[in-house]
Amino acid sequence: MEIITYDRLVAGLRAAGCVFAEDEARMLMSAAKSPVELVAMADQRALGHPLEHVIGWMEFCGLRIEVDPGVFIPRHRTEFLVRRATEIAQSGDVVVDLCCGTGALGAVLAAELKGIELYAVDIDPRAAQCARRNITAVGGHVFEGDIFEPLPVTLLNRIDILLANAPYVPTEAIELLPSEARIHEARLALDGGEDGLDVLRRVALEAPLWLSPGGHLLVEVSERQALQAVEIFARSGLLPTVSRFEELDATVIVGMRLI
Ligand SMILES: C[S@@+](CC[C@H](N)C(=O)[O-])C[C@H]1O[C@@H](n2cnc3c(N)ncnc32)[C@H](O)[C@@H]1O
Repeated sequence: MEIITYDRLVAGLRAAGCVFAEDEARMLMSAAKSPVELVAMADQRALGHPLEHVIGWMEFCGLRIEVDPGVFIPRHRTEFLVRRATEIAQSGDVVVDLCCGTGALGAVLAAELKGIELYAVDIDPRAAQCARRNITAVGGHVFEGDIFEPLPVTLLNRIDILLANAPYVPTEAIELLPSEARIHEARLALDGGEDGLDVLRRVALEAPLWLSPGGHLLVEVSERQALQAVEIFARSGLLPTVSRFEELDATVIVGMRLI
């Protein structure tokens, strides 16, 4: 049986181009349940699989979130969207996480606010399955399907916080993404259509039917998409505000339903 030492692991990871080889080696060693599994994990990583897919989890806003192969890995930038939501949300709110991926955003809100009613939706069966493991433990409900379509109609006019970190990469920019995203995350999780805002447009159009009066829709976009996103929100009758957090290169649009 091949036994892989820490030093050999670091050397292998470094040779494969992993910048944080020491940190990754420690994480792989603590995640592997046997020497055989460690060798397999090290091989996967050296082949370019994202560390989060190899070890099966990541830390997001201080929570341990399970991440399955092929499912979008939550970006630390999105912690700003969650922070904006926790500033607005109140205990007992109805919260929906559309395009939920792993369900990380809703999971953090459920951990930070008491007694929220949490629902999450994703069109990708692998993401919905992963989200179930992350949010059913906190009492959340996960549906598989196209944006609002699988939600119970009893939620019409009742959603206080609607999170939608939808795909927003313009189609022609996909090829410029790092290979870890391009190859190992679903195209559906990244591709937002010609200008990147196709899914966001559909979400904003229907959001006023689902939001409670005074309820909020929160989305993340790139800095250059912000103006266009504001126009989309305003056309849907939502009152938009833009927040920017330079340190994480994060831009969030919040839209409030007025009546
Ligand atoms: C950019 S990822 C974000 C995932 C998660 N919100 C996060 O921030 O980690 C976008 C997610 O939207 C899902 N998605 C794409 N189109 C969708 C649609 N029409 N309806 C529901 N989910 C969709 C993808 O499967 C993917 O999981």
